Amino acid sequence: MIIDILTIFPGMMAGPLQESIIGKAIARELIEVQVTNIRDYASGPHRTTDDRPFGGGSGMVMKPEPLAAAIASVRAADPSVRVILLSPQGRIFKQEIAFELSRLPHVCLVCGRYEGVDERIRNHYVDDEISIGDYVLTGGELPALTVLDAVARLVPGVLGSDESIAEESFVGGLLEYPHYTRPEIYEGHRVPEILLSGNHAAIRRWRRQQSLLRTRQRRPDLLKEEILGSEDRKLLAEAIQRERED
Ligand SMILES: C[S@@+](CC[C@H](N)C(=O)[O-])C[C@H]1O[C@@H](n2cnc3c(N)ncnc32)[C@H](O)[C@@H]1O
Repeated sequence: MIIDILTIFPGMMAGPLQESIIGKAIARELIEVQVTNIRDYASGPHRTTDDRPFGGGSGMVMKPEPLAAAIASVRAADPSVRVILLSPQGRIFKQEIAFELSRLPHVCLVCGRYEGVDERIRNHYVDDEISIGDYVLTGGELPALTVLDAVARLVPGVLGSDESIAEESFVGGLLEYPHYTRPEIYEGHRVPEILLSGNHAAIRRWRRQQSLLRTRQRRPDLLKEEILGSEDRKLLAEAIQRERED
């Protein structure tokens, strides 16, 4: 998979793209990341990428010409690329969108700055707009890295075991069960006995029950009755009953 990032601050990408799982995925050529400085497509002695807003008001707006030229250059190399503008006004990024993007061969993430990009870029040059949440950041670089990270780890081979993805939060509509590691007792707090039992069927059942319970407690909006089988309903009822008794 190829991921292009268009930004006026390419230096912000260096660390996150070199470290850990993403760094290794790039080194192993499982993903290819191309970072382009939008300024390279700007003209004039100062290579200006922003200008004052028509109609007045505070802040600057990203000029259309450099952005359009940078996007056109990515599209010329691959007309099938999906161009995505990072924007607090886009559709909210979720795990299902990460899966959707991970199946594409090529995405291009466009980072806005200042008050945002000229509306004509939004209307005529991008295919999609993604927000990473209902808050406003100073630029699209961190959102682009967030999207890249969530998408890249779903590309086959990037994580050691693709099995772990199947049980993760939001996959299958639930939050994941809790995790424990050594020591068995930490500051007087014990690991649940069942996890030490070696009984894999019982552990699977406990984990499913914990997933259901946590989702109900923390994200009831995710817990759709229709995705629960009869065993799930039984597990949940049992966990709620136990909770009431405690
Ligand atoms: C300061 S913001 C512009 C906000 C814009 N004036 C508004 O009120 O909608 C500058 C840039 O940061 C990026 N950005 C900020 N918050 C974001 C978010 N929640 N999700 C995705 N991108 C975001 C976008 O690329 C945006 O163009």
